[in-house]
Amino acid sequence: MDIISLKKLALLGAHNKPLELSSVEFASYMDSSQQTASRKLKALEDENLISRQILSDGQLISITKNGLLALQKELYDYQEIFSGNGSNKILSGKVITGLGEGQYYISLEGYRKQFREKLGFDPYPGTLNIKLDTQSIELRKRITGHIRISGFTDENRTFGKGSCFNVRISDIEGAVITPERTHYPEDIIEIIAPMNLRNHLDIRDGSVVQVEVIK
Ligand code: CDP
Repeated sequence: MDIISLKKLALLGAHNKPLELSSVEFASYMDSSQQTASRKLKALEDENLISRQILSDGQLISITKNGLLALQKELYDYQEIFSGNGSNKILSGKVITGLGEGQYYISLEGYRKQFREKLGFDPYPGTLNIKLDTQSIELRKRITGHIRISGFTDENRTFGKGSCFNVRISDIEGAVITPERTHYPEDIIEIIAPMNLRNHLDIRDGSVVQVEVIK
């Protein structure tokens, strides 16, 4: 994929509205021959990154939804590169109320003993739910929970497995827990911690929080 040409077209405004641009003009922007420029435009069109409308005296170029996604992915890649200078990754979002299930699941001894052993704390019974902002959703997708929580069977029910990774919110170390099967969409994370975070941090629904990934 020719991201450089696509980026140039976006810088010229083709991501907002159709851009009137001849291949001669594009060639001069790209510092290439006209032949090369028109080949590049055709390739972008073939890959469905741009669409073109031919006019009697030129053409209108628009970046497609697909093209925008490609540019956005590029942005996230750079954000990851430049946020990796020794500092930890930050997930940010807003506190929300969940489905009220966390309390029940986190209290189960089958999970609790694993949290004590694998995370080193006894969690407050519940999960603090955070609705992530757009950039954090992308970052979240790239983090794999490396702490495995096993499923178990309790009399007549089976409880599923999941995974965790360690985080810090303000001065508290906790973990993001991701059940293998969840009712939550990918933009919501669930945090467990040794204490009630709403009380400890004086936060409520709508509060903006930053969750630092520490391990
Ligand atoms: O109802 P919801 O699913 O949001 O919550 P829950 O998992 O049943 O947890 C009960 C309450 O404690 C909720 O208000 C959570 O946001 C909160 N909580 C907290 O403040 N700190 C934690 N470490 C865990 C849960």
